[in-house]
Amino acid sequence: MVASAGLHPLEPLTIDEVRRAVDLVRSQHPIGERWRFPVVTLKEPPKATVLAYQPGDAVDRQAFLVLLDNDTGHTYEAVVSLTTAQVVSWQHLPGIQPNIMADELEDCEAAVRSHPDFQAAVARRGLPLDQVVVDPWAIGHFGFKEEEGQRLSRCLCYVRTTPESNFYARPIDGLVPVVDLNAMAVVRIEDVGEVPVPPEPGEYAREFYQDRFRPDLKPLSITQPDGPSFHIDGHQIRWQRWQMRIGFTPREGLVLYQVGYEDGGQVRPILYRASMAEMVVPYGDPRPQHFRKNAFDLGEHGVGMLANSLTNGCDCFGEIRYFDAVLTDSRGNVAVTENAVCLHEEDFGILWKHTDWRRDHVDVRRSRRLVVSFIATVDNYEYGFYWYFYQDGTIQYEIKLTGILLVGALADQPKYGTLVAPEVNALNHQHFFAMRLDFDVDGCPNSVYEVNSHAEPLGPENPYGNAWYAESTLLEREQAAQRQIDPLGGRYWKVVNPNVQNRLGQPVGFKLIPGENVRPFAHPDAPIMQRAGFLKHHLWVTPYGADENFPAGPYPNQHPGGEGLPKWTQADRPLENTDVVLWYVFGHHHVPRPEDWPVMPVAYSGFTLKPLGFFDQNPALDVPPSPKACH
Ligand code: CO
Repeated sequence: MVASAGLHPLEPLTIDEVRRAVDLVRSQHPIGERWRFPVVTLKEPPKATVLAYQPGDAVDRQAFLVLLDNDTGHTYEAVVSLTTAQVVSWQHLPGIQPNIMADELEDCEAAVRSHPDFQAAVARRGLPLDQVVVDPWAIGHFGFKEEEGQRLSRCLCYVRTTPESNFYARPIDGLVPVVDLNAMAVVRIEDVGEVPVPPEPGEYAREFYQDRFRPDLKPLSITQPDGPSFHIDGHQIRWQRWQMRIGFTPREGLVLYQVGYEDGGQVRPILYRASMAEMVVPYGDPRPQHFRKNAFDLGEHGVGMLANSLTNGCDCFGEIRYFDAVLTDSRGNVAVTENAVCLHEEDFGILWKHTDWRRDHVDVRRSRRLVVSFIATVDNYEYGFYWYFYQDGTIQYEIKLTGILLVGALADQPKYGTLVAPEVNALNHQHFFAMRLDFDVDGCPNSVYEVNSHAEPLGPENPYGNAWYAESTLLEREQAAQRQIDPLGGRYWKVVNPNVQNRLGQPVGFKLIPGENVRPFAHPDAPIMQRAGFLKHHLWVTPYGADENFPAGPYPNQHPGGEGLPKWTQADRPLENTDVVLWYVFGHHHVPRPEDWPVMPVAYSGFTLKPLGFFDQNPALDVPPSPKACH
């Protein structure tokens, strides 16, 4: 009866399943022409079901949908069983605005361009309407009564001088149409003054530089004549000792499931599920046309639905395998993003080395890493999301930030930004990323510790002042587990399984090592700090909750805030020896540079997870020497 029988319960929905899910909802509920489908994705089975799953078991395949009726403005959640062909739950969510969809943006741009008041504002500035680009943004929530209950978008406007030109370089600063996305009608046009459009075109595209390309770059090839070392079965990946599954959701994009490492003939679990679960980019300019800029790129948009189709040799390099993303447009039609996820191996310098000069003996191993990645374009910015797996059990996460800065025009005193080109003011901003890391280190019950290093005071036991020690503090409950980084103190956190010891009697664990990070510069009482309450701490720990997936709550679009981590953790639930989820929040602090213009060279930000007593010793002694071994 079910074409999908036999699929692993965490396999993403197939094209056929997406189609059937939408058809089932349409046939069992009165869904008219004016409805949209903001989300259609796999409804993951309960964790216990997945953990108990054996090949051949029958697990109900379900889809999760969010629906929006543009006529009433009502939002609904639906769960569809593809196994029984039934809509098993249907719920109206009062006062909720779901994420903004890509084709809403197109309709919105058309509505603005055809509005006479907008046309008049453009004409007053002496700009040709056919060169004007309208970029709809989420409007946020700032307590304005007249915006309650409406589905609104706030549009930034630009001039595209030629069909190929970089319109983000030429903002129409101060002209901000606001659109009701349900009615698809302009509700007002904010016009705070006619600022000249910056004079330079700000071109970066290859057609503008081809006569200037540097001539001295010789070919560099990566070949794997026997193919890659990984194996793929559906969305399961095996590489070296690593095993994992991947998924892809419209909101988060790439998701990792059931990451484990084979050791002593068995796969030892490390992470049940890991994803970047929210992102927010607060801008730091208080002027009326700029203060609302603080995109939640997941909750208000969805980096999965904005994923790029990747190209071999450009986005990824070498022996590449791709995974497609099965998504929908806003009308519920299947929309496949081909080559959305890239899988490949990279040489990564040396893995370990020692020279025993007394016997003229050198032992060195090359490090190789497995890279699983995707790239999303969110308006002007590009984000690359990279998971790296190393042969010594290390896991690394890295964001690559690139694309085009968000700019205003003609700030004579760019206090809250940087002049990056004549009359172009790139606004100060911060990019914050919130990771949801459902650890299962050798099984579900885990405990989390903070490790701080202390210098021993001078005294009889430390007469020469050199002594220092690392002290582990158990994070017993949720409130005590809301922590900040301390880079000068070398602070890290470790997740251990207190029930499993290594050969030294230590509990097996993994440590989370912060990378670049920063505090938010928005005031604690600022609306954005209520809406993105997870920014108040770099680390949060919660006991596993099946419905606790998004740190700013499930529907941040136009939401006043208070949802998600700050709300859940008020219960101050105990964390010791339980199924824990770590939430790590890291920020990239962006005071723009002229060199970030007109397109930004990649900036990197991320963190590392390292085995900590998980193994009995260096687990990479079995990596063979390179064929070209010296000595
Ligand atoms: Co930036």
